[in-house]
Amino acid sequence: MSALFPVVVHDVMPEGTDCVRLRLGAKPGQGVLPRFAPGAHVDVLTPSGLVRQYSLCGDADDPGFYELCIKREAASRGGSDSLCRTVEKGMELHISPPRNAFALPAAQHYILIAGGIGITPLLSMMARLQRQGADWALYYYTRTPDQAPFRDRLRAAPYASRVHMATSLKQGYPAALSHPEADTAIMLCGPDGFMQAVSSHTIAAGWEPAQIHTEYFRPTEMTSDDDEQAFEVVLARSGRSMTVPPGQSIAGALMAAGIEVSLSCEQGMCGACVVPLLAGEGAHRDMVLTEAEQAGSIALCCSRARTPSLTLDL
Ligand code: FES
Repeated sequence: MSALFPVVVHDVMPEGTDCVRLRLGAKPGQGVLPRFAPGAHVDVLTPSGLVRQYSLCGDADDPGFYELCIKREAASRGGSDSLCRTVEKGMELHISPPRNAFALPAAQHYILIAGGIGITPLLSMMARLQRQGADWALYYYTRTPDQAPFRDRLRAAPYASRVHMATSLKQGYPAALSHPEADTAIMLCGPDGFMQAVSSHTIAAGWEPAQIHTEYFRPTEMTSDDDEQAFEVVLARSGRSMTVPPGQSIAGALMAAGIEVSLSCEQGMCGACVVPLLAGEGAHRDMVLTEAEQAGSIALCCSRARTPSLTLDL
């Protein structure tokens, strides 16, 4: 996990019916908050002791504050719930510097698609795109639009005409997805099932996979096939090698051998453990690397191997 630093909670505001928005500022005497680009997230040490990742949903061009939106997850292990229940104005929280695995690519047109709380990283993108005079539109799917997080902000924004709300994909996919366009980026964030449905529809309509940029909030189902095989990991810089047995992650095998590994989410979602892959083919299970990036990089917390050996730039 990246080093955490203290911030002060300036405001705690309800957002929709089951979310809380936090406005965080630098602690007096601690300088300014690190700048971030739209799509970035931070790790937050929650009052429960668990570390959770949240997208920065405020304006990336406002250097004074960070905004996070926390959804209370009844079925969670208590990280988000502890934030929603116990965080108050004036409290100190510890967070990591921003990390971005969902950056806006350069494009002529942007189609933003959110499922529920997946709206958060797209909010900072909208502010930036609007300021740049870009051509963009948001499609926001939420079961209860009248109680959805950020409904009021979106309705009152100068870009409200670019925002389209719907309750479910059963109402149909955005018509814009029916006509693949070159130089258009699709930014997609939401629950797994929603994202898989939108991605499949979009690919079937003829878009290139590289045009679809995604951010998952939960790990997708992992298959066990690759877990059944042990494989070797070779560290190119030291020449050391070790075996990764079935059921253990590469990170776990490295740490067992006394090698330091940078870890945060341990679910393939944050990118903290990604290292260059020099040889061999990874069985990739992360949500942060594009297909092209997976040819030359691997996330150590969740990936395994499709070849008997992987050589890492470590
Ligand atoms: S620790 Fe987050 S992707 Fe591996």
